Amino acid sequence: MEDRFDQLRQEFRCDLELAHTAKEVEQLKVKYLGRKGPVQALMQCLRDVPNEEKPLFGKLVNELKEEIDHLCEQALTSLAQIERAKKIEQERVDVTLPGRRSFLGRRHPILFMMQEVIDILRRMGFSIQVGPDIDSDYYNFEGLNYPPDHPARDMQDTFYVSPDFLLRSHTSNTQLRVMQAHRPPIRVAMPGTVYRNETISSRSHVFFHQVEGMYIDKGVTLADLMSTVQEFLSKAFHLQAEIRFRPSYFPFTEPGMEVDIRCTACHGQGCRLCKQTGWLEVAGAGMVHPEVLRNGGIDPEEYTGYAWGVGLERLAMLRWGIRDIRMFAENDMRLLAQF
Ligand code: DAH
Repeated sequence: MEDRFDQLRQEFRCDLELAHTAKEVEQLKVKYLGRKGPVQALMQCLRDVPNEEKPLFGKLVNELKEEIDHLCEQALTSLAQIERAKKIEQERVDVTLPGRRSFLGRRHPILFMMQEVIDILRRMGFSIQVGPDIDSDYYNFEGLNYPPDHPARDMQDTFYVSPDFLLRSHTSNTQLRVMQAHRPPIRVAMPGTVYRNETISSRSHVFFHQVEGMYIDKGVTLADLMSTVQEFLSKAFHLQAEIRFRPSYFPFTEPGMEVDIRCTACHGQGCRLCKQTGWLEVAGAGMVHPEVLRNGGIDPEEYTGYAWGVGLERLAMLRWGIRDIRMFAENDMRLLAQF
């Protein structure tokens, strides 16, 4: 009888040696201790054992059962330990590796320029007004005195989103809105993105940025405009700007002019940047056309005003010697990291 127990014990130990996973150990436990297993079968035999042997037999069955149970639990515990050790090894952190560098964000050069220009204008007494990027033909063109057949309204130059709405082609679109919402004296700066249907090249892009300055009050003159623009450009370029005004035409100005600054590269000697002229064109400007004042609900007999607009890409290119306007839209870290 005891042989039968020893044999089972041996078999179990052999099986256990071969079990390498928790699942296999669990299966073994079921195999030996389950209802259809050999230990249960031995229990069934108890009935047929002579009475005097029953106590010993029962004791042996119980011992065997406990032993199997105990060995299984032991195996499970050690397997779990091995698993854990493996996992820890796999997930081990090498504290001697160099850490990941995180890079500090920086302002885009155009945002940098815009904030600087806004700051300058604020200190000169201008408040900030922001107009919409998508605007009606009226605010961008018609109300600014553009004749219906003016070439700048051509579909070639302007992105229309519908027959009456467009992506503004200049920040001058905000002029009338400001006039309609405020009574003079009005002294505002209007920054924003503008859009034009141009062929992209080193000198032009389909979107760029402008800041517009405007002042309307009693007795505002051309001399006020000239001195203000002179002051503004000096601050924007961090130098005592030498500027000149050339007559030009904008439908919403009378008179209209273009503003040049002494070449920042050659100081007037003549170079490639200024195409040997010694001057760089940096802004459009003028006295606000009486018709535009009227459209804004302001009496041109009582008030006069001036306005000017600069391209921020142009200012940034001149100030930092950036040769290609496309660089501002390319997000090349080698450029952006310098600001
Ligand atoms: N809006 C013009 C442009 O985009 C620039 C300009 C010219 C603005 C004359 C003005 C102005 O305020 O008076 O080319």
